[in-house]
Amino acid sequence: MKIDGLRALEVLDSRGMPTLKVTLEADGRAGSFFVPAGASTGKAEAKELRDGGARYGGKGVRRALAQVTGLRSALRKREFAGQAEFDAFLLKQRLAGNSSLGLSGAFAHAAAAARGLPLYASFGKGRKLPRPMVNLFSGGLHGGGNMAVQDILIVPLRARSFAEAMEQVWRVYQAARSLLGPRFDYLPNWVADEGGFAPRFSSVEQALDLTVLSIEEAGLKPGSAMAIAMDVAASHASKITIATLESWAGNYPLISIEDGVPEEDWAGWKALTKRLGGIQLIGDDFFATNPERLRRGIRERCANAVLVKMNQIGTITQTLEVIAIAKKAGYRTVVSARSGETEDWTMADLAVGAGAGQIKIGSIARSERLAKYNRLLEIEAELRRVQ
Ligand code: PGA
Ligand code: ZN
Repeated sequence: MKIDGLRALEVLDSRGMPTLKVTLEADGRAGSFFVPAGASTGKAEAKELRDGGARYGGKGVRRALAQVTGLRSALRKREFAGQAEFDAFLLKQRLAGNSSLGLSGAFAHAAAAARGLPLYASFGKGRKLPRPMVNLFSGGLHGGGNMAVQDILIVPLRARSFAEAMEQVWRVYQAARSLLGPRFDYLPNWVADEGGFAPRFSSVEQALDLTVLSIEEAGLKPGSAMAIAMDVAASHASKITIATLESWAGNYPLISIEDGVPEEDWAGWKALTKRLGGIQLIGDDFFATNPERLRRGIRERCANAVLVKMNQIGTITQTLEVIAIAKKAGYRTVVSARSGETEDWTMADLAVGAGAGQIKIGSIARSERLAKYNRLLEIEAELRRVQ
């Protein structure tokens, strides 16, 4: 793969914050990638470079853009065998996380186009659609502090296709919307950062009760047709004890808890895994899509699943490495969006190609979320035509 061109642009994400779009040409074919950004970021994540100063309140990405375009002459006419070699080159440049992922993602798109392959084929041999966990209620940093945990999500368990899963999720989402009006001083077209509803709940239990009710109103059986998942985002939330999580898991059809314990509390993670390891326990801020942190977690029996966010680590190759390490150890993998997203849908292809099994995009509102859901619908249709 020979690089023939590279450009970058400062664009805006779903929160109106500046981010990078990187376009790379390889063997005469262009590919672009938009870098996402988190709000509830983990301490161990790759650092993004922002400008500081007055422009865009200091959030501009012109310095990151300059890092990218600064590589133009070093990359021009250079040959790379594939993603791993390109990403190894990026690692040597000691780039900021946003510059690095912009380049790595753009290479994936350009290389797939040059080979005439769908993007998912560059991430592995996986051809199964992931099971979605879909944000219904938002809280924490994504919902203005209205609820102690960050997300309450719904998980379709019985859908026979991704398209059917979407329709079931839609039914629950619409049921929740109509239940909110009479119960809260809330306009149901208000949505939070990831498209979920964010009324002022008096407790997490109230949100869980409303989730169960919405599932029932949708004509689905809680726990067998549609289950509940939760992202506590404990590093950013008011303290929720393991005993509280245990009681929720006992009282609700809760099958997955993410970041139930703060990221630096390894003893807490061990205790949580011992007590609640029968359900899915995902490390997000805790693992930060970092191979070293994940390896330590596996050794110390912390969590049993990993959230996979490309920009937490900064290259596609390292992201794939995290998925491979997890699978080998029997840990589940959930490819995830950030709260700040764009029209980019690369993560949908990553989830399919790498055979991640699960995906977490946000709710079924706001186009930066739908870009990914719609891409998955398209991949499903494409794979059915091929079979
Ligand atoms: P973030 O949230 O993108 O703001 O970090 C997503 C998550 O915590 O899963
Ligand atoms: Zn999280």
